[in-house]
Amino acid sequence: MHSIAIDGPAGAGKSTIAKRVAEELGFIYVDTGAMYRSMALYFLRHSISAQDEEKISEACADIEVSIEYENGEQQVILNGENVNAFIRTEEVSMMTSDTSKYPKVREKLLSLQRDLAKKKNVIMDGRDIGTCVLPDADLKVFLTASTAERARRRFKELQEKGAECDLDTIEKDIIARDEQDMNREISPLRPAEDASFVDASYMTIEEVADTVVSLYQKA
Ligand code: DC
Repeated sequence: MHSIAIDGPAGAGKSTIAKRVAEELGFIYVDTGAMYRSMALYFLRHSISAQDEEKISEACADIEVSIEYENGEQQVILNGENVNAFIRTEEVSMMTSDTSKYPKVREKLLSLQRDLAKKKNVIMDGRDIGTCVLPDADLKVFLTASTAERARRRFKELQEKGAECDLDTIEKDIIARDEQDMNREISPLRPAEDASFVDASYMTIEEVADTVVSLYQKA
């Protein structure tokens, strides 16, 4: 089986790029952030505090996460419920960063992610794909863009959805999330030693996707 790992900070465009590349290469796109988000949604719905590691670890035993594909789009199934519509809010984003640092939460998803890559050719995005989930991936990309650009894109996306939002708050949230994701003890966000860096700040989606495809072909 072949695999591509795409890691990088929040809002760098990982999922947009990974979807394009998956289509072009005929790979399955696996969004691991969505899996962590579904677990965070569970903790929020059960009013479990992000600080309460013990309760969170216990709750992991009651959570079942799987994924399905509908018209090529990944759907996350949390205890039998498709939760895709509920996992993209700012509240869930922050809760996900707060709770994905716990070992029990990460353990829960690691084998699911590795199993997917055993069965199909995958392009998987997240924070620790190249460093931990798929250390033998054929290609590892670390995708970045400036904080201002990442905040601007997220702002535009939310505005298009008609959501009320504020650029400064979004930028602050992104910075806080990256800080936390980079500085946690287990599987922090960092480039794998053999990762190719792509800075998407001044590139179009097509340019970034083409770059990843040609890096893969060379690899
Ligand atoms: O990619 P995303 O924005 O959907 O990810 C949401 C959060 O999930 C992110 O702040 C960190 C966490 N995450 C992680 O710890 N490991 C992954 N492989 C993917 C996401």
